[in-house]
Amino acid sequence: MKSIKIRILIIFLILLGSLICIQWYFINYFIKDTLEKQLINYITDIGKASVKTIKPNMLQIFPGFTETKTFHKLKKDLRKYQTDFNIDNIILMTPEKRVVVDLSGMFKNGDEYLFIDINKRQLVSLQGGHIKSSSLYKNMNNIYCENIYFPIFDKNKDFKGVMILFASAKYFHSLMNFQKKLSYLFVVIIILSGLLLYLLAHSISKPVVQLSKLVDKIGEGELNAAVPYKSRKDEIGRLAKNIKDMMDKIKSKNIFMRRVSAGIAHEIRNPLTAIKGNLMLIKRAINTDPRLLEMVNDNLREVNSLENLVSDFMNYAKSINIELKSVKANDVIERSLQEMQPLLKQKAIKLTDDIPKCRLLADFDYLKRAFVNIIKNSIEAVKYSGEINIIGEIRKGKLYLIFLDNGKGIDEENFTTIFEPFYTSKSAGTGLGLSIVKEIIEKHYGKIELSSEMNKFTKITLILPIEEKLYGKDTVSR
Ligand SMILES: Nc1ncnc2c1ncn2[C@@H]1O[C@H](COP(=O)(O)OP(=O)(O)OP(=O)(O)O)[C@@H](O)[C@H]1O
Ligand SMILES: [Mg+2]
Repeated sequence: MKSIKIRILIIFLILLGSLICIQWYFINYFIKDTLEKQLINYITDIGKASVKTIKPNMLQIFPGFTETKTFHKLKKDLRKYQTDFNIDNIILMTPEKRVVVDLSGMFKNGDEYLFIDINKRQLVSLQGGHIKSSSLYKNMNNIYCENIYFPIFDKNKDFKGVMILFASAKYFHSLMNFQKKLSYLFVVIIILSGLLLYLLAHSISKPVVQLSKLVDKIGEGELNAAVPYKSRKDEIGRLAKNIKDMMDKIKSKNIFMRRVSAGIAHEIRNPLTAIKGNLMLIKRAINTDPRLLEMVNDNLREVNSLENLVSDFMNYAKSINIELKSVKANDVIERSLQEMQPLLKQKAIKLTDDIPKCRLLADFDYLKRAFVNIIKNSIEAVKYSGEINIIGEIRKGKLYLIFLDNGKGIDEENFTTIFEPFYTSKSAGTGLGLSIVKEIIEKHYGKIELSSEMNKFTKITLILPIEEKLYGKDTVSR
């Protein structure tokens, strides 16, 4: 699918291309044709008037004719026409193409008219009484010209000669210059409007891309992300506001769901406690019957596991209200490991930790809870003699806290689902551990990165901002 930017540019190029074609057609055909027709009409009118004044006996060619009064008058009359009507040249010639008069002086009386612009076919057509015109051509001085040929007849309608009027179409140069300038102007317009259009397309597509990334984040459960473009008054602003409203609604629904869940869990816990108490009493009373005792013990175990589940559930349902204080990252890790000691002792796990001294703005208890959940998962994932490494690195004002284990690994297709509540692959798991970790880390303005390979390793990286005022003073590696 093409991006908005490319679509707008394609539409623009099509529009621009059509515009250039239209202007080119307009100048080259429409204006050019109209002007040419006007020129021909103008010269034809002049020619028709002047050709009437030429008497056939004037078309004489013999030595001494050029000295006669008739020849001088003829020349004078033709010159008057030439100057009066701004005509470039007038030539009179016989049907045999012998020049009688050439006002330009190129041909003398009696010379053969050498130009090929008038051929036999045209002569025949002229003989038939038709006025002919050449098509527009460029003369030797590179000027557009038009020639019109008028037949001359005597009283008996005998074809006696041809009068040629040469007119230059100087306006064509202005037209061509205008077209050239127009082309330059078009190039400038193309570049400028292309640039403007690119900026416009960018200003449309950039917010759309940003907002779609935000929607992706919301899909991953990040409901506290900042919504850009809210203050804009246009469609983008409306879209941003809608996204913000949607986030608020999801948040309030989440809060509502948590309250309902907490209520239900609470209601289950009370009867559970009563059942547990009763079971204890029964256990004491039936001390002697081993079969009944076994049954009661089984029930007690089930009740205990149900109680754990309910308390996990209640913990999850409770809103996480973080109180940020300055805490040492090392202290949080140490306390988390202490808490995990009983579980760690169940396996011969090789555990190492190497955290640079640094302070975080964090809620000690919640951060510890997040670390405990991650370490617990690693302990559960590794074999009896597995390995767990906790490594800290400081990069660009952030603590990268890496929890690495060589346990069973996570399939890549579950990389997002494992952070969703109630997703578990364990028979005794609630699937709440990592969803709580996610929420706690996000509330600390941190990020979680995950990489894993099945049956090789799992690496969970927490990226947490370190407390700025103490950065540098307290960050020496151990
Ligand atoms: N280090 C790990 N190695 C392998 N799989 C893991 C690891 N951490 C998490 N997982 C997978 O992610 C799932 C979800 O973990 P999560 O901690 O949310 O729930 P859980 O451990 O199943 O249950 P609990 O609520 O008791 O923590 C686990 O069931 C497991 O499949
Ligand atoms: Mg877990």
